Amino acid sequence: MSELCKISFPGTNYPPINLQPYQNLSEHLTIQNSPVLFGCRTGICGTCLVEVIGEISPPQLDEQEMLDTLAPNYPNIRLACQIYITGNLEIREFK
Ligand code: FES
Repeated sequence: MSELCKISFPGTNYPPINLQPYQNLSEHLTIQNSPVLFGCRTGICGTCLVEVIGEISPPQLDEQEMLDTLAPNYPNIRLACQIYITGNLEIREFK
């Protein structure tokens, strides 16, 4: 049994959630359990841009191209719908 990953939302009232690793984050976040808003969930609309601190693998090429367009020069900004969980994450709103 692998260890759970803690996904937390500092600066909000949402309690952290614990998820199994090696899954897509967006499959487990809803409007009830997280402040993250999603649109397409396929990496093309940009609605889910967030700041992410933690153990996370680098973006794939498609995600990187979106990030270069939407948030150039912000190294910790990611598309939440494209995050594959591999460790504990802190997710903050990107303004
Ligand atoms: S929800 Fe559209 S890019 Fe993530």
